[in-house]
Amino acid sequence: MHRVSLIPGDGIGPEVVGAAVQVIAASGAEIEWEVLEAGAEIVEKHGTPMPDHTLNSIRKNRVALKGPLTTPIGGGYQSPNVALRKSLELYACLRPVKDVPGVRTRFENVDLVVIRENTEGLYSGIEHRVVPGVVESLKVVTEEASMRICEYAFQYAKEHGRRKVTAVHKANIMKMSDGLFLECFRRVASRHQDIEQETMIVDSTCMQLVQWPERFDMLVMENLYGDILSEICAGLVGGLGVVPGANIGEDCAVFEAVHGSAPDIAGQNIANPTAVILSSVLMLRHLGEGTAADRVETALYGVLSEGVQVTPDLGGTVGTSGMAEAIVARM
Ligand code: NAI
Repeated sequence: MHRVSLIPGDGIGPEVVGAAVQVIAASGAEIEWEVLEAGAEIVEKHGTPMPDHTLNSIRKNRVALKGPLTTPIGGGYQSPNVALRKSLELYACLRPVKDVPGVRTRFENVDLVVIRENTEGLYSGIEHRVVPGVVESLKVVTEEASMRICEYAFQYAKEHGRRKVTAVHKANIMKMSDGLFLECFRRVASRHQDIEQETMIVDSTCMQLVQWPERFDMLVMENLYGDILSEICAGLVGGLGVVPGANIGEDCAVFEAVHGSAPDIAGQNIANPTAVILSSVLMLRHLGEGTAADRVETALYGVLSEGVQVTPDLGGTVGTSGMAEAIVARM
């Protein structure tokens, strides 16, 4: 029996996370969920969208499945997602981007892994007004975090039989910050000569990704580039509804989809649960429940291949709950 923290999230979160919980229950893995509070509606009660008791539960259980959490734009409280990643030192954001059966896209055989540094860069949230009309936002890059994320990328490559790691940067302009990241990548890469390695400027990477995604295998980069490139990569395989993710640290791991709370479709039972279910597959593997993970993945891919009992964004005829029921029926 595994005890796992569960953050349903807001917007479409409770719908897609509910679908994933239903599917996991049928997978054979024994999970006891500890359902936790987080998000906008608890800010008044606790003064924060990510209270200590929620963080402490994840510290104790070491594994969490999380739905998306809305973040106010241009003001308001700090992003609960960023707070979670920083508080638990979930330094590596892992996003495997792979073709999904039954989802028509412009490219075939896309199989990429994006590794994003999760704790610093422009997401440090250090902003101030110098004088009226002038603000500064600081990009923080440390040797420690850069070495750690590059090492994680090469270790992942070794453990998962990947062939190449590309470091993405803009060190031609940000000579000190991205320069340090690049120097760290080169130092780590020199210890892993058995894996192919290259460095590439971020704008060129964006263009090449949408022209020849097959020339890439794994990409490692700082926080903001990772955020943007993850979404470009999601677009290559059918959009945000189908890409899973994980935030990994030394002590804890939090599994969540790449997509946000999608307020435009919340509460309508039409959100695609694929991304959260695939994140659950990553979680089951992390827990050592490989057989349960394979069962979920096979049933999900079966339902997606048929293309009928899937959500409207995939051209299907059922809602979020109907798709979950179809996956369970296949298992
Ligand atoms: P979003 O990912 O929520 O939505 C972008 C577009 O994709 C929308 O048209 C939405 O309907 C569609 N979409 C997303 N997930 C889908 C799914 N599962 N099925 C079908 N369609 C789906 O991005 P947006 O609108 O920029 O962000 C909304 C809120 O979510 C913001 O407050 C943002 O800060 C937050 N957010 C939270 C994240 C997290 O908790 N990790 C990650 C990204 C955004």
